[in-house]
Amino acid sequence: MINYAVILASGKGERFGSEVPKQFIKICGKTILEHSVEIFEQNNKIDKIIVVITPEYEQKAKDILSKYKKICKILCGGKTRKESSYIGINSIEEEEANVLIHDCARPFLTQNVLNNCIEELEHQKAVTVAVPTTDTIIEVKENYIKNIPSRSTLMNVQTPQCFRLSLIKKAHDLSKNENDFTDDCGLIIRYNLCKISIVKGNRENIKITFPDDIVFTKEILKKKDTAM
Ligand code: CTP
Ligand code: MG
Repeated sequence: MINYAVILASGKGERFGSEVPKQFIKICGKTILEHSVEIFEQNNKIDKIIVVITPEYEQKAKDILSKYKKICKILCGGKTRKESSYIGINSIEEEEANVLIHDCARPFLTQNVLNNCIEELEHQKAVTVAVPTTDTIIEVKENYIKNIPSRSTLMNVQTPQCFRLSLIKKAHDLSKNENDFTDDCGLIIRYNLCKISIVKGNRENIKITFPDDIVFTKEILKKKDTAM
């Protein structure tokens, strides 16, 4: 089956607070957008890449990304991550495919984890990357602790989140009027459509959210460079 990557890069980066959206910030000479696209461009099991970009930056993205051969579409995203994700998957013409949805803001996904996702998707319809949480997580109500779930049952979710196209399309169709979702797996769970299998992520696969995150990322890239 054909493997599509959908790179979600249509956010505004409000928490990052830079003049241009954070996907255009350069780390070690390359934008976060290029770093993220390259992970999928370099993987020989990925056939096509769709990039969903902040509408005002469509031309800038087209200029920067013209060198990547697997990119088949650069589309303008929506107001929420959910809308952008829908725009990406809905543009796929095939009846059925595998689709790996990735946050552009996670430019440090390793090939190893990506390969594990693709392999898992051969016998599962829904797969996400996650890492065991190292913090104790509390449930809060009105500024008091309501509950402390056992850490052994908690993980931090990452991307890519990977699905059979028909399944994730159905989840989006069912949730048309709801907006309370921060990721695509949430849609599948809400409608109890399918079990979601977990692939262990790499800890460096952080989502760049605040300017401090860039300090860590420079170190990660240095490590990657010396390892190659
Ligand atoms: N995203 C998107 N379309 C949106 C919102 C987010 O494609 N309308 C993408 C972002 O570009 C990012 C990923 O979803 O790669 C995760 O979102 P987040 O880290 O929240 O990025 P931003 O929304 O850009 O940041 P902020 O919430 O701080 O504004
Ligand atoms: Mg956001």
